[in-house]
Amino acid sequence: MDFFEVLKRRHSIRAFTRATVQPQDLRAILEAANGAPSAGNLQAYEIYLVKKQEARAALAAAALGQNFIAQAPLALVFCAHPDRSATRYRERGIRLYSIQDATIACAFAMLAATALGLATVWIGAFDDNAVGHAIGAPRNLLPVAILPIGYAGEKPEATPRRRLQDLVHEV
Ligand SMILES: Cc1cc2nc3c(=O)[nH]c(=O)nc-3n(C[C@H](O)[C@H](O)[C@H](O)COP(=O)(O)O)c2cc1C
Repeated sequence: MDFFEVLKRRHSIRAFTRATVQPQDLRAILEAANGAPSAGNLQAYEIYLVKKQEARAALAAAALGQNFIAQAPLALVFCAHPDRSATRYRERGIRLYSIQDATIACAFAMLAATALGLATVWIGAFDDNAVGHAIGAPRNLLPVAILPIGYAGEKPEATPRRRLQDLVHEV
């Protein structure tokens, strides 16, 4: 799929079919995430791959009862690893770069999933500690985004955007 077609086709999907994600597709998505840029190429984030039904249900509960998360056959949880970035960048690594590293890796995964005909939704509304507990992450990781991945069980809604002239500030 043409890259701009991928961008156009990506919409948040909040209902998933029972179809599983093919291992080669999952691999391609993870490779895409791994190819994302990061501050100093430190890749100050960790990815948790959540497949077990019980863990997906725990994630959904941790995400304030967004139960469609458990419907998807898998979810990736992107966690910032502030200590890893702090080794070189100190406070800026903790406060900014590790979050950005995790964020852009998740964005790459999301677009790769779209290119493969899969559906996703970025989940940011959750209880950090409950997500950490659900995935068994050490306490020094900060969950940044949950990305359920599967096949769409609904037609996406068209979502409006701000006008470019309001959004872009030429200086
Ligand atoms: C940082 C962030 C947090 C989000 N958190 C949630 C969430 O917790 N639950 C949800 O259903 N959608 C969440 N979304 C998805 C947005 O609602 C969605 O991207 C937006 O409404 C635009 O729709 P579209 O993705 O279909 O273009 C989040 C998106 C971002 C970027």
